[in-house]
Amino acid sequence: MSLPPIKTRERLTEVRYEIRGELARRARELEAQGRRLIKLNIGNPGAFGFRAPEHLQRAIADRIADTDPYTHQQGLPAAREAIAAFHKRRGTPNASPERVFVGNGVSELIDLSLRALLNPGDEVLVPSPDYPLWSAATILNDGRPVYYRCAPENGFLPDPDEIAALVSPRTRAIVLINPNNPTGAVYPRELLERIVAIAARHKLLLMCDEIYDHILYDGARFQPVAPIAGDLPCLSFGGLSKVHRACGWRVGWAVLSGDPVASGDFHHAMDLLGALRLCANVPGQFAIEAALHGEDTISALCAPGGRLHEARRAVMDSVAASAHLRMVAPQGALYAFPAVTGEAAHGFDDHRFALELLETEDVLVVPGSSFNVPYRHHFRVTLLPQPEDLREVFRRIERLLDRCAERARAQRVAVA
Ligand SMILES: Cc1ncc(COP(=O)(O)O)c(C=O)c1O
Repeated sequence: MSLPPIKTRERLTEVRYEIRGELARRARELEAQGRRLIKLNIGNPGAFGFRAPEHLQRAIADRIADTDPYTHQQGLPAAREAIAAFHKRRGTPNASPERVFVGNGVSELIDLSLRALLNPGDEVLVPSPDYPLWSAATILNDGRPVYYRCAPENGFLPDPDEIAALVSPRTRAIVLINPNNPTGAVYPRELLERIVAIAARHKLLLMCDEIYDHILYDGARFQPVAPIAGDLPCLSFGGLSKVHRACGWRVGWAVLSGDPVASGDFHHAMDLLGALRLCANVPGQFAIEAALHGEDTISALCAPGGRLHEARRAVMDSVAASAHLRMVAPQGALYAFPAVTGEAAHGFDDHRFALELLETEDVLVVPGSSFNVPYRHHFRVTLLPQPEDLREVFRRIERLLDRCAERARAQRVAVA
């Protein structure tokens, strides 16, 4: 008897997560055949030799005997106190432990908060490029992402007038990713003020993904949105994965700020959805206080001589020396998002390029169009490898782009 294949949720066809998609699968096949690849597709510090700071590891080890039971659905009280105090210090109005939600990474909280917010057909203003989970979670919670451009010509900064023009009666929220993945843009205060004014005018929830808040280069300054938003409901996301290099612990948080009356039932909705999944992983929550109120271990990595700073320098030098690439220098986060230009860009397809780079040069990057942009001549690399490895990566990329340019030239001659 042949059984009918299982049907899956139809809207999954609209959802992509290519950072771990087909190219990554092909990379695993090649590795199984014995090929040694340089994989730049995931911002996963532990995979590049970074360790979570020792005092965080110790904070968990010391309390491991206390990690067996479920906790409150919003997280361990002491962890929520520490997050609320951290937010108060940076000026978040009405931040209190009761309005903190701890999750299995920011990822879980993105999904949970959109599920708490959206009704079918509701719209969410999402940056393009975006971190693709924002689009996916909007779609899977029956919403519709409406993209506002963060154009390379504008340093990957959004245009508030364009955001305002995209607001419709169905718009419920504005997503901001700052510092940005994949572009590395860091948004100036005046720009954030204008976006907050739009949210205020149209009564939209501000959803601020600030997971890279302390990963900043060359004097860039991070401005959290919540203090600007004041009484306006704002949900600010942070976590241990990036700044504290502990992706595998799966610890993230969301802080609801602004006037509690204006946030209506949203707090209850988040609490209920949190309760349905019982609680987040407990061990990592014991590191939160040490992370937020202990020694700063990220600034030195981002300062001259620090590994992330030097990795970014290696990418910027390589792009500057390239005959085919240009780039807006990342001001923060863990990525660079270069563009292919000139002859090599003729007929260029970012997916084809990424596949050929993998097959012929043993380097895995993420095609730019994976981040929900309409153009196809960008790619993303993470800044996590050793600077020397990044220089080698860009030598290989240049070699392939030389071939792309040669092919484009030959085609042009053939057509002429
Ligand atoms: C912008 C952004 N938000 C959220 C996440 C998810 O982080 P977490 O490990 O906390 O789930 C990532 C991970 O790369 C990210 O880049």
